[in-house]
Amino acid sequence: MRLNIALLPGDGIGPEILEQGRRVIEAVCAGFGHVFEGSTGLVGASAIEAVGDPYPQETHRLCLASDAVFFGAIGHPRYDNDPSAGVRPEQGLLAMRKRLGLYANLRPVTTFPALLQRSPLRSHLVEGADFLCIRELTGGLYFGRPQGRSEDGNTAYDTCVYTRGEIERILRLAYGYAQRRRGKLTLVDKANVLATSRLWRQTARELEREYPGVETEYLFVDNAAMRLIQAPRSFDVMVTENMFGDILTDEASVITGSLGLLPSASVGLHTSVFEPIHGSYPQAAGKNIANPLATILSAALMFEYAFRLPEEAGVIRRAVEASIEAGRVTEDIVAEGSRACSTSEVGDFVCSQIRALTQAPGKAKAP
Ligand code: IPM
Ligand code: MG
Repeated sequence: MRLNIALLPGDGIGPEILEQGRRVIEAVCAGFGHVFEGSTGLVGASAIEAVGDPYPQETHRLCLASDAVFFGAIGHPRYDNDPSAGVRPEQGLLAMRKRLGLYANLRPVTTFPALLQRSPLRSHLVEGADFLCIRELTGGLYFGRPQGRSEDGNTAYDTCVYTRGEIERILRLAYGYAQRRRGKLTLVDKANVLATSRLWRQTARELEREYPGVETEYLFVDNAAMRLIQAPRSFDVMVTENMFGDILTDEASVITGSLGLLPSASVGLHTSVFEPIHGSYPQAAGKNIANPLATILSAALMFEYAFRLPEEAGVIRRAVEASIEAGRVTEDIVAEGSRACSTSEVGDFVCSQIRALTQAPGKAKAP
């Protein structure tokens, strides 16, 4: 198969971690006889510097022409807390989501047995937790208009808007995943306060009948924040609007013991984007210390979701598990007293595992 992938390294540690992800894709393609064609594009602060636009038209064209987009991270401290900065790197990410029609962000949360002791929660609560957060990505407060300030500058406003159509398409996607998983869907909202949440809930109540195999649970967002900590194992598929999803997925990510491990996929109308959920970690940029595993696991999601190649995805996951079990990991998850590996050493190890797994007799598939 020919894999035409747009590579968008972005800012901070983005280039270093994406490079390890790229090498992993190459190793998988070599092992399974696929042809990998990658083209690189600018996004974020680096794109502002180069061409004055955080999501240049050329990058957009590259994304539209590719089967999948592999993305590093976006953001630079220079633009934080500076209202005079004008255009911000994050606007590039939001423009990309909107223009590519990426209405659903999928963030699977799984635990790695070797890392259980690193979770801030007690192991018996976390062990075996395995759920999928589905966040609506192109609506709500992030995109609702009007947004801005009154003339005197003393009043600011954001608008939360959702149409039935936007809600229905993501709920159907979420029901589909729930059907293929353990048959439970949790809708997280604030229907006791927000009109948009009430439309979400009403739409779900109507759809519920079409998915008799799925149990639908309704949870207020404050309660959901608590349940994530108290009983993470009680979730199977969680679906929610944009802002709630942003907050809850950060919370969910620490359950596994490292933000550096969670991959994500954004899917929608034109193409799909695969990226780690952590940010650009500017303090670590250029130091070869950042954890590349979330990016490498995002490559696994890409094989699974964009190319429908689950066997290839499985090989990547097994290689990542091997690196965690062997302790060949970066400083954020290394066991106390052990030597931490660099970003590229973790990449080396994962690639060598992939080669070993695909060269074993009977493992490699004919091209
Ligand atoms: C995320 C990030 C972004 C978001 C920021 C960088 C705009 O936090 O992908 O979760 O809020 O969506
Ligand atoms: Mg976020």
